[in-house]
Amino acid sequence: MTCYRVYDADIPEYAVAIDVYEERIHVAEYAAPQDIPDEKTARRLEEVLDAVQVVFKIADRQEIALKQRRRQRGTEQYQRLKQEQTKRVVHESPVKALVNLHDYLDTGLFLDHRPLRCWIRGEAKGRHFLNLFSYTGVATLHAALGGATTSTSVDASSTYLKWFNENLALNGLSERQHRGVRADVRQWLSEDQRQYDLIMVDPPSFSNSSGLPDFDVQADHAELLALAMARLSANGTLYFSTNHRRFKLDDAIAERWQVSEVTAASIPQDFARNKRIHACFRLTHA
Ligand SMILES: C[S@@+](CC[C@H](N)C(=O)[O-])C[C@H]1O[C@@H](n2cnc3c(N)ncnc32)[C@H](O)[C@@H]1O
Repeated sequence: MTCYRVYDADIPEYAVAIDVYEERIHVAEYAAPQDIPDEKTARRLEEVLDAVQVVFKIADRQEIALKQRRRQRGTEQYQRLKQEQTKRVVHESPVKALVNLHDYLDTGLFLDHRPLRCWIRGEAKGRHFLNLFSYTGVATLHAALGGATTSTSVDASSTYLKWFNENLALNGLSERQHRGVRADVRQWLSEDQRQYDLIMVDPPSFSNSSGLPDFDVQADHAELLALAMARLSANGTLYFSTNHRRFKLDDAIAERWQVSEVTAASIPQDFARNKRIHACFRLTHA
């Protein structure tokens, strides 16, 4: 394991998350409470960067990937400090994945979902895998290297599908066996006719991207899971995960399918301080 979280606002005044991506360090600042003056927040961030430089022996501060919160016209925004446009290869067990530490808030690899991806790898052999809201497709890479017969990865973003195809090539996997589909997940599910033996659903908490129907995981997960369960084979397994902090699973779901909450086991040790980082459920047909 070479990419992991080392610090998550353990000292509340120093409100950042620090992640190691092999030889690179990624620091993401959390929003400070409104009553803390900007100068104080800025000084604390400087102190964090000093500490990171010392601990990780980094000569040039520009090498630290920093996602800084700035107040702009009343709204919180992350400001990019450096535009790199270059991706670097990192490793997660047998998988190679491309990350971009500088240009987006998210790096291409959600570290808190590492255990779920490893489960997928362990369960994929001889199965047809479906990855919904696939992002850069790292879970699909795990399924493929775990021996999935085929995989289908659905995402609305052409940027992320391109990234996924780069990830496939990096791992010597074929786009014919592991297809990426650009579509709105609910629209695609309502039209798709195939069956899948292993499904991962990791939707955004909220989305109001242009050209897509609005999505709110709390309000819309029951409909989404009904559509996805219709595509799950009789002996198949579906994993549903959400980063929504106050998520509550609709009671109707446990009445209709076999559901077990696997959140505790799915949170890796490096995220254990934050029991709400995500919630994860395993669904099978009753
Ligand atoms: C995997 S989800 C984010 C999950 C992550 N755990 C989090 O909460 O930040 C992000 C992906 O969903 C995709 N996405 C968002 N809305 C979508 C939709 N309606 N249909 C298909 N993909 C969508 C985005 O393009 C992105 O790649």
